[in-house]
Amino acid sequence: MPQYRPRSIVLVSVLFGALTGCGDDLVGPGGAPEGPPDVLMGDAMAGRVAFVEECGTCHSALDGFDVAFFSFPDTTIVRRAVHHVDTATALDIVAHIRTFDIRQATRTTRVFQPQQALLGSDLEFGLGLFGQDGWPADLTTDGLLAINPRTVPVAVEFPVWSVEESNIDWMPELPVDEALLDFNGGAARFALDRYYVTRSLEDLAQAVLALRISDRARENPDAPCIEDPSRDDPLALFRSQECFEARRWTSTLVAQHMLRAGLVIPISPVLHDVWWDVGNAARRAVNRRDDFENAELNWASWMYLGWSFAPQQHASVYLGIALNRLELPRHATFVALRSQVARPRRSIAPYRDVRNAAIFSPATWTRAAVRFGFHQLLERLEAGWVPDEEEALAEAIENVEEAYDVAARKLFGIQTEEMLELRDRVLELLEQT
Ligand code: HEC
Repeated sequence: MPQYRPRSIVLVSVLFGALTGCGDDLVGPGGAPEGPPDVLMGDAMAGRVAFVEECGTCHSALDGFDVAFFSFPDTTIVRRAVHHVDTATALDIVAHIRTFDIRQATRTTRVFQPQQALLGSDLEFGLGLFGQDGWPADLTTDGLLAINPRTVPVAVEFPVWSVEESNIDWMPELPVDEALLDFNGGAARFALDRYYVTRSLEDLAQAVLALRISDRARENPDAPCIEDPSRDDPLALFRSQECFEARRWTSTLVAQHMLRAGLVIPISPVLHDVWWDVGNAARRAVNRRDDFENAELNWASWMYLGWSFAPQQHASVYLGIALNRLELPRHATFVALRSQVARPRRSIAPYRDVRNAAIFSPATWTRAAVRFGFHQLLERLEAGWVPDEEEALAEAIENVEEAYDVAARKLFGIQTEEMLELRDRVLELLEQT
């Protein structure tokens, strides 16, 4: 007689779901863990060790937080785990995951999607935001600043955590590249190891910083994200797929830190930049005409995600172009002007933002949007916030002129004259400085 082995009883019931391929449907995401209680389960301690060793190179938090948080059913865990470990160990991992009491989201949760709402169109976005299809003529700087991009529903689809059939998800297809951890005397490895012990924000920031340096440093022969303006083709060394994967890996680290701590507010521009960076990898894939699945959508959604946490941070042109390519010009206009009001005092960026608003805005929005942008520049200049370098001044003037030129093509008659007057007031103040 075979010896009674509790583990194999669970194994049969868990594997049944896995083998029939319908385990995920049997147990709804977010539901209670199926199966009998712990006595019959694998060994949680062993599962914890196994997760670190066998899963952690891709599941960056190392402890299985994501698998628990997104409520993947036991059957799914086993089905995925057996790609990497034997079935007994898979059950140990299930037992370990069950020790977390954090089934807070599901596999369909679009992580950080404002209001968890995905709008159907650009028009719906405009109407929802302003209650009308147009930039509100009476919107003030403070009024716009009071609109928090983290709470404005958009028609940009944010990635879910894990999708097997597409790349619109967070999980990186590739494990973290050892070469990135080793670069610069092992700076990233050192910082990560510390983070895994302390789980502190400071150590997270150190690790992320080191990884961001590793992924793009020209001195690093293994860096997948090298952009080198001194070459004829600055993107000659850029490997978009690997860059995308490396940056997704770093991104999952930041996301899990926030989800674990229940943080929904911005924590640090540098950390949210990692998400913007993923979008930038996809943008580069488009520029290079690489064969890259969902490049435009990834470009727009990752950049929007990063931007929504740090609207002061990046030139609005990059995200704006992505949004326009997806036929979301109202979103693009909002991004340009919401960025503008968030800019630091002496920044040149607000001048580029108004130009971008002129370019991106639907013709029916142009008049009020560009007028807003020009007024914002006037307010800055009147407050003495002047771009500080000589070059910057010339560029500011150029952008103001271009904003007018582009806008004028979308306006007519008296509107054009009014815009010209406004432009000249901005130029006058600029030239006085
Ligand atoms: C080589 C990288 C890699 C390793 C190693 C890895 N995973 Fe994953 N895992 C992924 C990716 C990528 C996804 C996202 C889905 C996809 O693209 O296939 C994922 C998704 C999952 C999911 C969700 C699947 C779903 O239905 O969406 C679970 C559960 C999971 N992994 C568990 C594990 C466990 C447990 C281990 C270790 C025994 C492990 N993974 C090791 C890359 C990895």
